[in-house]
Amino acid sequence: MNRTKILAGNWKLNLGPSEAVQYFEQMSGLLKEKSPTSKRVIFPVAYCLQDSVQRAAKTCGVELGAQNIHWETKGAFTGELSGQTLREMGFSWTLLAHSERRQFFGETDETAARRLKTAITLGLNVVYCIGERLEEREGGRMNEVLIRQTKAYTEVLKTTQPQASQTVCIAYEPVWAIGTGKTATPAQAEEAHAFIRAQLKSALGAAGEKTSLLYGGSVTAQNSKELLSQPNVDGVLVGGASLKPTDFSIILQS
Ligand code: PGA
Repeated sequence: MNRTKILAGNWKLNLGPSEAVQYFEQMSGLLKEKSPTSKRVIFPVAYCLQDSVQRAAKTCGVELGAQNIHWETKGAFTGELSGQTLREMGFSWTLLAHSERRQFFGETDETAARRLKTAITLGLNVVYCIGERLEEREGGRMNEVLIRQTKAYTEVLKTTQPQASQTVCIAYEPVWAIGTGKTATPAQAEEAHAFIRAQLKSALGAAGEKTSLLYGGSVTAQNSKELLSQPNVDGVLVGGASLKPTDFSIILQS
């Protein structure tokens, strides 16, 4: 199955606009292939979503996206970002439902699904995050959690029609592997991805087979290649290691 390969970085609350421009200048010198066949995306902090940073990112074949959008496009929602304005500004990607949003900012399957619906309707490309916490895995509840989180995603996909050119994908990020240095082994990642793939196929049929599944959680320049060689791992979502152009350029070329 030929699924879109997506190599994505999540900068979280790190790097400002001038650091971002420097980052891409450095990366541009490190990359051999500037117009890749896989999609390269970075989700910087919202204030980096501006022309100067976008121009610098383009020299590396990298697109930029928002780390979250609100389900409404305007109104009295202090502190939120509008997906419509994001599009008008020329940005076409958003990350949604990241575990840090779920853990620290009250994101639920329900609110994440509302954001997903809006993002798809606006024609945005989406990386939608799911993943179990350590106590859920150790308590034998991993599959139950993945079924619940995947269902929130597939229920939206059943009622919305992404355009052919639109990429809407899932990132499996086991929470115990995020920022901890404890990566899932390639076998663990593949097992979870195959399980998610089965859920997607039973809910969405052929579209579920085509959905790219990214792995995230302590991906590094050293382990990315092996993770990406698994049949159901179609990309990676990288936090810490995406902050260093030297490391992330290796991951982009792995
Ligand atoms: P990490 O973060 O690569 O630093 O573990 C991944 C993420 O949170 O997306």
